[in-house]
Amino acid sequence: MPARKQTRAFTARAVARVALCALVVVASFANPIVAQDDADASDAPPGPARVLVRKRIVEDLVVEGSNVTVAVTLTNAGETEARKVKARDDGFANEDDFELITGKESLSATYATIAPGESVEYSFVVVPKKSGSFPGGAVSVSYLGTSGRETTHGSSNVLGATPVYTTMQKNIFAALKVGKYLTLGACRTIEDWVKYGTIIGSVCGALLLNWVALKVKKGVAAARRKMAVASLERSDRREKSA
Ligand SMILES: *[C@@H]1O[C@H](CO)[C@@H](O)[C@H](O)[C@H]1NC(C)=O
Repeated sequence: MPARKQTRAFTARAVARVALCALVVVASFANPIVAQDDADASDAPPGPARVLVRKRIVEDLVVEGSNVTVAVTLTNAGETEARKVKARDDGFANEDDFELITGKESLSATYATIAPGESVEYSFVVVPKKSGSFPGGAVSVSYLGTSGRETTHGSSNVLGATPVYTTMQKNIFAALKVGKYLTLGACRTIEDWVKYGTIIGSVCGALLLNWVALKVKKGVAAARRKMAVASLERSDRREKSA
């Protein structure tokens, strides 16, 4: 009995020793990584603020005489708070073409601070007076992005010129939308209608051509048969007379 107890004690000690070794190995691998993390967190100063600006038109279609909402989103993608943020759209000065429903001041916005990861948005409403082209353009932005005093300047994405449709065209689009459902989504635009129209047209044309060709072919075959029969009859007669 005592011998068995000793063996058990020995085994327990061996297991403990292996476990300790394993712990030491794990710790020696893990330690440097932890130490590096600590160093990163304490030594490196946070990066500057980075304000990204996105400009977009909210409506699907821009139509003359109707509201067009332009939304501007500012997002701080940097690591420091952005201060004294000023955004401004310089377009829509021509009052012959546009009416700025929300007033001149609505083209710009200021924010005391935008925290890292934070997004803010402002919008303004213009009504195009004529069909044609809606100016795209960009929104410019300036802010203090570091702990110092230098101002950072930036600008938004540039919106391409967007077509301004007439009310009549808008109604055609609405009609096409109905047509889209009627044709199970196959015909969505005027081009689609023209394209499918042509295909349907050419299918009809091909069927007609085929029919004509078949008729001709049958005719030719019938004529050949007649000729063959006639020549057989002729040779038959010749043989009989001979
Ligand atoms: C057009 O925009 C203005 C300002 O936002 C709003 O007061 C008005 O109701 C809008 N009109 C339509 C028809 O949506």
